[in-house]
Amino acid sequence: MKKKRISKYQPFYVNKRYKNRNRMKDISSFKTYPHYPVMLDEVINLCSPEKGGNFIDCTFGSGGYTNAILSFSGTNVISLDRDTDSLNYAKETKTNYKDRFTFYNKKFSDLDKVIRKDFKADFIIFDLGMSSMQIFNLERGFSFNAKGDIDMRMGLNSFSAQEVLNNCDLNTLKNILKYLGDEKDNSRIAQNIINERKKTPIKSVQQLVKIIEKSKKKDFKKKINISTKTFQAIRIFVNKEITELINGLINATKFLKKGGKLIVLSFHSLEDKIVKFYFINYSKNKSRGSRYYPETENNEILFENYKNLVIKPKENEIKENPPSRSAKLRYAVRNKDKFFYPEELKKRFEHYLKIESDYV
Ligand SMILES: C[S@@+](CC[C@H](N)C(=O)[O-])C[C@H]1O[C@@H](n2cnc3c(N)ncnc32)[C@H](O)[C@@H]1O
Repeated sequence: MKKKRISKYQPFYVNKRYKNRNRMKDISSFKTYPHYPVMLDEVINLCSPEKGGNFIDCTFGSGGYTNAILSFSGTNVISLDRDTDSLNYAKETKTNYKDRFTFYNKKFSDLDKVIRKDFKADFIIFDLGMSSMQIFNLERGFSFNAKGDIDMRMGLNSFSAQEVLNNCDLNTLKNILKYLGDEKDNSRIAQNIINERKKTPIKSVQQLVKIIEKSKKKDFKKKINISTKTFQAIRIFVNKEITELINGLINATKFLKKGGKLIVLSFHSLEDKIVKFYFINYSKNKSRGSRYYPETENNEILFENYKNLVIKPKENEIKENPPSRSAKLRYAVRNKDKFFYPEELKKRFEHYLKIESDYV
């Protein structure tokens, strides 16, 4: 009789005396964590933790990836998260994996401040955006369904959404909405924010929702809520997410060993644009523009051939966890140990970096 497969990680060799017992793990239990870890199977497949190695999880959340990786015995994981709410989950992980797990309540742009200079990682993972704990904690004001104050700080911030809405000038507000949220009605919304705060300070999420409703026509054909883009823009600005991503990617590259993988899950087009540009522009097969131009020199690249491959969640994952539908996974492989600073990445997205530094 054919033996039943317990999981896809227990595939062909169930009845054989397979050397590596680690491969027999079922990781599906990690999907029931407070934050459903998006594309966990795909991430685990790319990381092959059954072979062991050094991992950095830049966005710990409730520890879905971290715990799945640590469940393979030869792994060591360093995890970071800027949110103090992750501390309790990290404590739990620490009790289970005392010697193989370290957690820092730090931003990933500070990776080089917490990790030893000579440390080399086999895999570094970024799972960008918000955790379910952040979205569903209505007191933190990330969601347009929240009834309380508008705050939107993920942790280790210099200012809140309230401060932005009540202090930024018209031009800064317009730029935030236009460039960080791709909101075409940026002028009207920004002007109405200014008009409203002249009457009464903007404190609550629902105040902002009303301003947006007043500024935009209801479009019943559109799938997304009319507040989505404004809320995304302000959240990105409050958390300086573009600056974080660019500095985080650069820092992570420093710590990857030759052959190591940089894995990034992004959730909106600007994030994906940055990751794509970085991987393509600093990989061996970067387009030369013309066949008459010289080939990319080895000292100008950081990654092996990059195939512009995008991995998306499968239908059944989207059904189980609808927020995963916008996820895009890209990964690049480090071509050598030596690092040089990828100036062009910052130059290319200078405009966004400038917008994020407009208010300190
Ligand atoms: C989508 S969740 C990650 C979920 C995680 N993969 C899991 O399985 O639970 C994103 C997490 O990244 C954290 N985060 C976002 N930006 C960060 C940054 N710049 N530095 C450190 N953590 C960050 C957020 O606080 C949030 O907890």
